[in-house]
Amino acid sequence: MAHFTKATSVHDWLNQRLAIDTLQRVLSKEYWIPKNINFLWAMGMVLAFTFGILLVSGIFLLMYYQPNVDTAFDSVNYTIMREVDFGWLWRHVHAVAASVVFLIIYIHMLTGIYYGSYKKGREMIWISGMLLFVAFSAEAFSGYMLPWGQMSYWAGMVITNLFSLGSLEFNGLVEWIRGDYVPGQAFLDRFFMLHVLLIPLAILGVIGLHFGALRIPHVNNQDGEEFDFEEEAAKYKAGNKKESKVIAFANDFLSKDMFVVSIYLIFFFYLVFWHFGFAMDPINFDPADGLKTPPHIYPEWYFLWSYEILRPFPKDPGLVAFGFAQVIFFLLPWFDRSPNAVPASRRGLFFFWFWAMVIDLIVLTAMGKLPPVGVYSLIGKVAAYAFIALWVILPFITRNEKRV
Ligand code: HEM
Repeated sequence: MAHFTKATSVHDWLNQRLAIDTLQRVLSKEYWIPKNINFLWAMGMVLAFTFGILLVSGIFLLMYYQPNVDTAFDSVNYTIMREVDFGWLWRHVHAVAASVVFLIIYIHMLTGIYYGSYKKGREMIWISGMLLFVAFSAEAFSGYMLPWGQMSYWAGMVITNLFSLGSLEFNGLVEWIRGDYVPGQAFLDRFFMLHVLLIPLAILGVIGLHFGALRIPHVNNQDGEEFDFEEEAAKYKAGNKKESKVIAFANDFLSKDMFVVSIYLIFFFYLVFWHFGFAMDPINFDPADGLKTPPHIYPEWYFLWSYEILRPFPKDPGLVAFGFAQVIFFLLPWFDRSPNAVPASRRGLFFFWFWAMVIDLIVLTAMGKLPPVGVYSLIGKVAAYAFIALWVILPFITRNEKRV
């Protein structure tokens, strides 16, 4: 057994048993962050904070929510919204956080793409990030089922139908997922379990992986500068803090992170108190009715771009295009053939590729919300083709990129 001495303080007692000093050194005091990064590098912390808000508000909602097809709608729209003190506040906090988290995820992803932060050595950061994106998408979808309103029911119907895999007609798989021929009690039970237990647990694990993946390559910087972290850290520890190109994560960089988180929270609570409506669909304030299909079924804003890639094509090619859109971002570190981990503005054609992708995603999102008729349908179709074309040309335009 290890050698234990009589502890001189509570800190010393814990340190002998849990090595808290080593832990603190590895995770914060000697975890080095480049100085040349901007506020966009605080988005990871903003995301971690928003996930915390979702967990806490979710626990409060869980105290009154009832996962039963006869009472779920009223437990949310009547009990929580009207009867429970401040229940409306927890619901609005949860709904706004669920929507805003995607806005921040997209900003965080696009920052990574713009600065090439997925390149050699950082692939695991990117892959674990994409796993988080998929897990958050599943979490948002399963949560959307819970109020058991019209959009919960019909979105559940449409999305689970995708598992029939078009002409392959795997209807048995759809029924297996639903636990019934149509969404019903079994469906609500299992999506409830996924939403409150299995997916949040998975998210916690993958966040651990994402943070662990950052530890060895360290975060990138806004100039695409390569430097020796050990050497710069040695300067910092020797007291040459001005000369060193890095600072310690805690408390130096953390205080900067917290400043950005504070500004974010002002924006967040502004939305919670004055604009919570954007995070809720009016049609979902009607109880689920399996006999009344809403005239226009669409998902929440953050899924619209991929929905629009599915919609303009006939059934089977649409499914293939949709599947492509779901997995292709995982492969970015390999589709981008250039070794340059520098800002897109210094990468020639890739700069235009980046902005064309951003504009295309915005157009797809706008068209996904509109009914698929006339000119909207045409624009949606062109944007969906453009999305696929952009991915096809990426390896070619990056293969011969000049090394910077
Ligand atoms: C939703 C949960 C997420 C959390 C809590 C999270 C957290 C973080 C944190 C704290 C950092 C370090 C600081 C920073 O650059 O912001 C980071 C970096 C990074 N994340 Fe995430 N992230 C999440 C999702 C994602 C997603 C969806 C992607 C994209 C696929 C992603 C890709 C990256 C990349 C590439 C970096 C490295 C940035 C660099 O080296 O400069 N993350 N993340």
